[in-house]
Amino acid sequence: MDSETLMNVQDGTQCIRNVRAGSDCRIGIFVNLYDCEIGDRTMIGPFIEIQRGVKIGSRCKVQSHSFICEGITIEDEVFVGHGVIFTNDRHPRSTNEQGEPLTDGEWKLEKTIVRKGASIGSGAVILPGIEIGEGAVVGAGAVVVESVPAHATVVGVPAKMIKKDECSSKNTKSMSVPFIDLKRDIAAHKEEYLSIAERIMDSCGFTLGPEVEQFEQAFAGYLGAKHVIGVANGTLALYAALLALGIGRDDEVIVPANTFVATAEAVWMVGAKPVFIDIDPKTHLMDLTQLDRVATPKTKAVIAVHLYGNMVDVDALCAWTSPRSIRIIEDAAQAHGAFWEDGQAVGTKGDIGCFSFYPTKCLGAFGEAGGIATNDDELANAMRLIRFHGSGAQKYIHEALATNLKMNAFQAAILRSKLARFEASIHRRREIAEMYRSAFADLPLELPPAASSRHAFYVYTVATDERDRLQEHLQSRGIGCGVYYPIPIHEQPAYRSYVGDDDACPQASRDAKRILSIPMFADLTDEEIREVIRAVRETFE
Ligand SMILES: Cc1ncc(COP(=O)(O)O)c(C=O)c1O
Repeated sequence: MDSETLMNVQDGTQCIRNVRAGSDCRIGIFVNLYDCEIGDRTMIGPFIEIQRGVKIGSRCKVQSHSFICEGITIEDEVFVGHGVIFTNDRHPRSTNEQGEPLTDGEWKLEKTIVRKGASIGSGAVILPGIEIGEGAVVGAGAVVVESVPAHATVVGVPAKMIKKDECSSKNTKSMSVPFIDLKRDIAAHKEEYLSIAERIMDSCGFTLGPEVEQFEQAFAGYLGAKHVIGVANGTLALYAALLALGIGRDDEVIVPANTFVATAEAVWMVGAKPVFIDIDPKTHLMDLTQLDRVATPKTKAVIAVHLYGNMVDVDALCAWTSPRSIRIIEDAAQAHGAFWEDGQAVGTKGDIGCFSFYPTKCLGAFGEAGGIATNDDELANAMRLIRFHGSGAQKYIHEALATNLKMNAFQAAILRSKLARFEASIHRRREIAEMYRSAFADLPLELPPAASSRHAFYVYTVATDERDRLQEHLQSRGIGCGVYYPIPIHEQPAYRSYVGDDDACPQASRDAKRILSIPMFADLTDEEIREVIRAVRETFE
């Protein structure tokens, strides 16, 4: 909506561009509003800037000279006094490391939410990544550096609580932090996701077709891979890869003992034998020094699982597989966003790279989805046939024994939309990993490596002999945590028949009792991260 069509705009000089305004809102003079949303009957005073992506609810009152920047959400019935300044980057810089002016993409934006009925006094400054709770009061001139609980009152610089919400303080001593919260991304981009759903319904193109092709091209471009083939999920990506490599009965495939069961499952699905290799407890990844011990003349492939977002050294693996004509499948289900130092993406150095887009993954769909990457034309053609009942250019001619692995168009479209923001979300994961790393450096915890392009931090996993105590303490504090994975596959009942007396993987068995993953997702606020850090440190104090 522009200034001509918006109702109740006072005469004067305004810049109003692409504002979705509810009914009966009032806008003052000399405002600069763009690409934002304002609810019904909200009043925006003069000399105010409201930036792109900001959402302001209904019946709010925003007084003159306030600055509301990108990343801010204000719920219904909030009062914002005169000259209130919101910020969205805690450590802003004018230039990047190369000394070049910062581009929009390099801005480290942290989101802030002001809950229903809160009141912010004139001249307050709100630091980024903060939640101002429902009905909370921020005194005039306060500098708010951490979240304000519902119905509390804070004043001063930095803002301190002078009045608590009596009801909530009786029940809750500290903030709980979810292990993952998908609702935050959905809330931030709901309009876009709804318009995708509408587009797919209007087109009635529900499976494969242009949406899937566009995602395949976009993801191939992101990876720098020649081909990407969209499939129904990550398990079937692995299955298609094994089939395309001609692996089946009497063949053996080396699989790490610590991975999600799907890696081994795909080997079973093609009728081959999964052979489990132990892990290196420092990285939790497959131990390449054990390859000679587990390989036999029947070994046809190795599935290198880039667990937790951290990459197996595929160059070193290639040096072992190439002279033996053994193929490499990269299971990159947990590692989208990781790149080697030479700039090559995860999933593109082996023969085939397999991705899962399960909703909780770094790049997650709104249901099941998967993808396969390869630079080999023949393998790509084979996998396209396998995806579509073994049928290619000619309808109802089935050239290969295969099945239905087709990707859903809605998932492809959602993934393409998320891909545009993907780098920023991986950047945030690395930033969180660094906050954890520096906060835990003096604790008796084994930590993941320092953040680099090689790690996408799908999960943040620490290891300690005190794992159970740490897990219990975090759970009692309402901090989400989980074990990936509590029982290695070579110990799983279903895989017993594949494991001989000499096939122990002692490091994987030990690791399973020592590992714990703590909250890690791009929408975690700094305040939540500080809460996780506090809770972890308490365990060892
Ligand atoms: C390492 C690994 N491989 C394969 C898969 C299977 O992917 P999907 O759940 O999409 O079938 C997963 C999913 O969690 C995984 O983590």
